[in-house]
Amino acid sequence: MSRSENPTVTIAPGVEMPLLGFGTWMATGEDARRALDTGYRHIDTATFYRNEDQIGRALRDSGLPRDEVFITTKLPQGNAGRERETIEASLEALGLDRVDLWLIHWPPGGRARPDVWQRFAEIAEAGLTRAIGVSNYDLAQVDEITEATGVAPAVDQIPWSPSLFDAEVADGLRTRGVTLEGYSPFKTANANDPVLTEIARRHGVTTHQVILRWHIDHGFVVIPKSSNRERIVSNFDVFGFELTADELARIDALGG
Ligand SMILES: NC(=O)c1ccc[n+]([C@@H]2O[C@H](COP(=O)([O-])OP(=O)(O)OC[C@H]3O[C@@H](n4cnc5c(N)ncnc54)[C@H](OP(=O)(O)O)[C@@H]3O)[C@@H](O)[C@H]2O)c1
Repeated sequence: MSRSENPTVTIAPGVEMPLLGFGTWMATGEDARRALDTGYRHIDTATFYRNEDQIGRALRDSGLPRDEVFITTKLPQGNAGRERETIEASLEALGLDRVDLWLIHWPPGGRARPDVWQRFAEIAEAGLTRAIGVSNYDLAQVDEITEATGVAPAVDQIPWSPSLFDAEVADGLRTRGVTLEGYSPFKTANANDPVLTEIARRHGVTTHQVILRWHIDHGFVVIPKSSNRERIVSNFDVFGFELTADELARIDALGG
C-alpha cells in the first residue's frame, strides 16, 4: 500500500497527520521497521515507552525520507517543569531535529497545567516540534489550557473505539478544532460484537479491520499496535473498503 491511500488530517498549518499510524507501547524497533516497510507513515512513541532510540534506528534503516514519516512522542507527567530537557532527550534518542507532534502524555497530577502548555507553545515556536497536543485531557482541561494561553491543542489522544464512542466528546473536540486521536482501539473494543461481525462478513474483512475503518471514516486518527508480522500487515490493509453511513451509525450505537 502506498502512502497516498492513507488519508491525512491537517492538524496545524501545513502539518498533515496520517489517520492510520502504528502504536509502539510494548513494541520494538523491529516491529516499527516492519510497519514502515508495510507502508505505515506515522509512528506513535513516548518517553515513557523507552523505545525512542529503537524507533529512530528503524526510521534511519528504512531509508525513508524524514519528511515522509510522521513521528509523535510525549512528555511523561513526572517531567512537567523539565519540558525543554525532555524533548531534547527525545530528539537525541530518535536522532531527529524535530518531531511532528509532541503531547503531554497525561494531565500532570490530574491537572490541566496551563504553565506546562505555555512551555509547549514556546518549544513549538522554537521549532523542536511541528505541532503540540495533549493526551488523556477531558474537554474542560482542553478549555482551561486554551483559554489560559490562547493556544488550542492540535490533538487530544484518548482511549477510543466503538465501545467508547461518545458523541459529546467527538463533537466537543471537533467544535474546538482539536483532532481526536484514538488509542487502544482493540484493547477497549469487543471484536466479537455481533454488529461488527456482521459488517465484517459483509465486506469480507475482519472485525479488527472494521474497527480501524470506523475510525478512518469518521476522521479519527487511530494507532493500532502489533508485534505480529501478519497483523501489522492486516491492520494496514484497510484502504480497499468503506463503511456506509448506516454501518457507521450502527457501530456508533455500540458506544456507552
Ligand atoms: N496516550 C496514552 O496514554 C496511551 C495509552 C495506551 C496506548 N497508547 C498508544 O496507542 C497504541 C495502541 O494502543 P495499545 O497498544 O494499548 O492497544 P491496541 O492497539 O488496542 O491493541 C494491541 C493488542 O491487540 C493485539 N492485536 C493487534 N492487532 C490485532 C489484530 N488484527 N487482531 C487481533 N489482535 C490484534 C496486539 O497483539 P500482537 O502484538 O500480538 O498483534 C496487542 O495485544 C499504543 O501502542 C500506544 O502507542 C497511548
